[in-house]
Amino acid sequence: MAFNVTLRQSGRQFQAEPDESVLLAAQRQGVGLPYSCKNGACGSCKGTIVSGEIEQASHSSSALSNDERDRGMALLCCATPKGDLVIDVREVAGIGDIPVKKVPCRVSGLERKATDVAELKLQLPANERLQYLAGQYIEFILKDGKRRSYSMANAPHHEGPVELHVRHMPGGTFTDHVFNAMKERDILRFEGPFGTFFLREDSEKPIVLLASGTGFAPIKAIIEHALFKGLDRPMKLYWGGRCKQDLYMMELAERWVKDVQNFSFVPVLSEPDADDAWTGRMGFVHRAVIEDLPDLSAYQVYACGAPVMVESAHRDFTSYHRLPEGEFYADSFTSGADIVNQV
Ligand SMILES: Cc1cc2nc3c(=O)[nH]c(=O)nc-3n(C[C@H](O)[C@H](O)[C@H](O)COP(=O)(O)OP(=O)(O)OC[C@H]3O[C@@H](n4cnc5c(N)ncnc54)[C@H](O)[C@@H]3O)c2cc1C
Ligand code: FES
Repeated sequence: MAFNVTLRQSGRQFQAEPDESVLLAAQRQGVGLPYSCKNGACGSCKGTIVSGEIEQASHSSSALSNDERDRGMALLCCATPKGDLVIDVREVAGIGDIPVKKVPCRVSGLERKATDVAELKLQLPANERLQYLAGQYIEFILKDGKRRSYSMANAPHHEGPVELHVRHMPGGTFTDHVFNAMKERDILRFEGPFGTFFLREDSEKPIVLLASGTGFAPIKAIIEHALFKGLDRPMKLYWGGRCKQDLYMMELAERWVKDVQNFSFVPVLSEPDADDAWTGRMGFVHRAVIEDLPDLSAYQVYACGAPVMVESAHRDFTSYHRLPEGEFYADSFTSGADIVNQV
């Protein structure tokens, strides 16, 4: 017997099967809820159970703390209903109409942008076109059925291959393959697009774009999309890495500064190499935002990359620097290593 789920703010309702996650049930019925990793690692799908009971599957303790659980919060990507529910969660408009497809693709380009970053280009079959929103991601389906997520690095208006930026995680199933064995013309299979990390175009607020490492990929797509649409909202890009080679497309960001009005770029390194001869900003990238913009009340923030950076930015910006909770949008690049500390 299916249960009734009601969204407290809009009164919208959908049905969820007892063994189905609330997120999946919502998606099946065209209701957009926020999410990213879909496996209890990132916290993007957090909502509050106003009434009713759920079964919360195991998840990372950083995605949902015991204290948050005690306050009635839940991760909707891995919570199944035990009866009718009323939940409080932000709805996401504009993703329901985009078809999610499983498609084969050919590796049409594989280029090292840094020792541990590869730019991967994927050619789709001639009769296929991937519709997506800049900022979204796809999931490769590996031979054993496992999945790995990568964000599109080019905006959807681009003709030609889909571009991804992949960072090597030594010992990692997929990225070891990309860096050690993958060749041009290899065939892969993916499903997508997924995710709710995309530019909210109904706002006039100035935008802070915050990236660490390959978190730059969807941020690049969002910037390209904003430029294509001629949006004139001020954009401030902060891109952080340990050393200079982590900022593997710095010339592109510097070109935007020259070519685009109201665009600024602040590169930030936490541990520059001696031969980087770095004279720029140092430290954690989200701290650089706070130093420049201690009052974020008028901004929208788009943050992407390492889970620790995304978590710190969310906490510091919304708790201490007046960013409204609803104006923080993020994708956290969680991996197998992030679902180890489970509760
Ligand atoms: C929404 C989303 C978008 C993403 N987009 C991008 C992107 O654009 N670019 C990008 O580079 N990455 C992105 N990622 C991360 C990406 O999906 C992969 O998680 C990452 O590339 C690692 O995959 P892998 O198969 O190589 O590693 P995995 O096999 O998942 O392993 C990851 C690391 O954890 C270690 N590990 C695995 N299991 C354990 C364990 N049990 N205990 C301890 N250590 C363990 C491995 O040795 C390895 O170092 C994204 C993630 C998400 C959720
Ligand atoms: S989408 Fe649910 S924890 Fe990441």
